[in-house]
Formats: sequence, structure tokens, C-alpha cells
Amino acid sequence: MPRDWLVAAGPASLDIGAGLASKLGAKLAKVETVDFPDGESKIRILDEPRNKSLAIVQSLYPPQDKHLLQLLLMAHKLSEDGAEVNAVVPYLAYARQDKEFLKGEVVTLGVVSHLLRSVGVRRLVTVDIHSAQGLGLFSIPAYSCSAIPLLAEYIITNYKLRNPIAVSPDFGSSSRTEAFASIIKSEFVSFKKTRDRQTGEIFTEDQALNLSGRDAIIVDDMISTGGSVTKCAQLLKKYGASKLIATCTHGLLLGSAVDRMTSAGVDDIVASNTVPSRYSKVDVAPLLASYLETL
Ligand code: R5P
Repeated sequence: MPRDWLVAAGPASLDIGAGLASKLGAKLAKVETVDFPDGESKIRILDEPRNKSLAIVQSLYPPQDKHLLQLLLMAHKLSEDGAEVNAVVPYLAYARQDKEFLKGEVVTLGVVSHLLRSVGVRRLVTVDIHSAQGLGLFSIPAYSCSAIPLLAEYIITNYKLRNPIAVSPDFGSSSRTEAFASIIKSEFVSFKKTRDRQTGEIFTEDQALNLSGRDAIIVDDMISTGGSVTKCAQLLKKYGASKLIATCTHGLLLGSAVDRMTSAGVDDIVASNTVPSRYSKVDVAPLLASYLETL
């Protein structure tokens, strides 16, 4: 029998929450959020969740600490009131630190996992988690859907690309880029990127390519400062690439990221709406609904 869903959209994800409720044919709970002058959130949920399967939708883009706390507050209240809480977290912050890279570092994703469980979350659904191994830190069922096929379909429909090549800025995004390339039916290549773990500085290894007359799409899970895409774009231009598109699931696009990438030759940016911006061109609500419908 299909589940009886109630969707509660957190303040960070009102649009995705509404889209998800509509796709699921579910009621969208009335949620009131008030911020006190010092920034603390007060949240009131005006629907009765008892005996419902509940999806709380809250993406954890900046201010990520505040958005995380709002998610925890909602989950605590709704599980206390008898709901089976599914946390739908389109962008899962803190997922990059999924192990102790340098001695003494906190494994932040492990802490997020503990927090979610401690407030009664029974299941986590996210989109393009930074690394699949991060899912192993959860002691509740945790699943990551991929928006890469949607991004690829969007690019096929909206751009006329000449002999395109899909490019991963680092080995970590190779499998995503390979999946993207198979949908747009192109070649793909991965650069080798290293990051100085103390300073954060990025080094992208040069490699000889002939891209004369070809368009390239740089594919990543997230674009944060734009540094990775910028290094990659500079090399692709050096090899003769024509049009450059940067695509990612999570377009954090901090500070001058867009200007940096544009100066390096990036013509357009295509991101999903896990992080809202003018580049959020692909809606993940149908993807999340399809997953919840399988439960
Ligand atoms: C790193 O491994 C990620 O996949 C992204 O490449 C990275 O987080 C992007 O960050 P930025 O835009 O600051 O280079």
C-alpha cells in the first residue's frame, strides 16, 4: 500500500518541499519560522504528523549551521509527535570531512550522523553526497540520489555542443563524469587534482589534449570557490576548447566564484536547485519524490 506522506519544508527548502509534496500527492505541512533578533530560530509545525510517513526537506547550504539546527529542531518535534521522520537533505553540508585526513581533525559527517539519529531521524535521503563512502558513517539507512542524469538531459536539451567532451576536475568526480558522458554520448577525461590540506591551495596536473574546435563540460558534485573549475578551465582553453560549460549538483558559488570561472573562459554554469541561485536550472524535487515512492 502506498505510504501516506506529509511533507514539512524547512526554511531553507520551501520550493523543493512544495515540489516534493506535489509530486507525491502529499499534504504540505504548515510550518511557521520566526527568527529572534539574535538569530535564534523558533519553529512551529501546525499539522498533526501521527501515523504519517514524514519527509522533512531542508538543504544545508550556508548558513549551514543554522539550517542544520533548524532541521534538528523540526525532526525532534515531529518524531516526538509520533512521525516516522525521513530527513530529505538535498545538499548535505559537512560531507567533505568524512574521515580524519590530518591527525586531530573532527570527522564532521560522523557528528552530523549522530545528531540526526539523536533527534529521531529514521532515514536520510540526500543528493550527490560528496563521496559514497560518507554514507557508511550513518547508523540509519542513508541514500544518495544523483542529479547528474538530470543535468546531462538539461544540457542536451538547451545547448548545441560541438563534438563535446566531459571533463572531471579531479579523480573524485570521475565516476560522476563518466555517467554524465554516457548520457550525452561523449568522451570523458579526468584531471589529477591535489589540494594542500593545510592551505587549501589546488594543483591540477597538466596533460596533453587536443581540443581544437571542441566544446567541453566540466562536471563536479559541487562548485564552492570555483577554484577547481577555474584551474580546469584554464587548461581546457590552453588545449583549444571552444565553449566551456561548468555543471554541478550543488552550486555554492561563494564570493567571486562566478567571476573567477568566467575569467578563465567558462561560458555558462548549470546547477541544480539544492542550493538556490540564478544558476539553479534543474529541479531535484521529482528525483527525490521518485526515491521516496520506492520506500
Ligand atoms: C572536491 O573534491 C569537490 O568535488 C569539489 O571539486 C570542490 O569542493 C570544489 O571546491 P572549489 O570550487 O572551492 O574548488
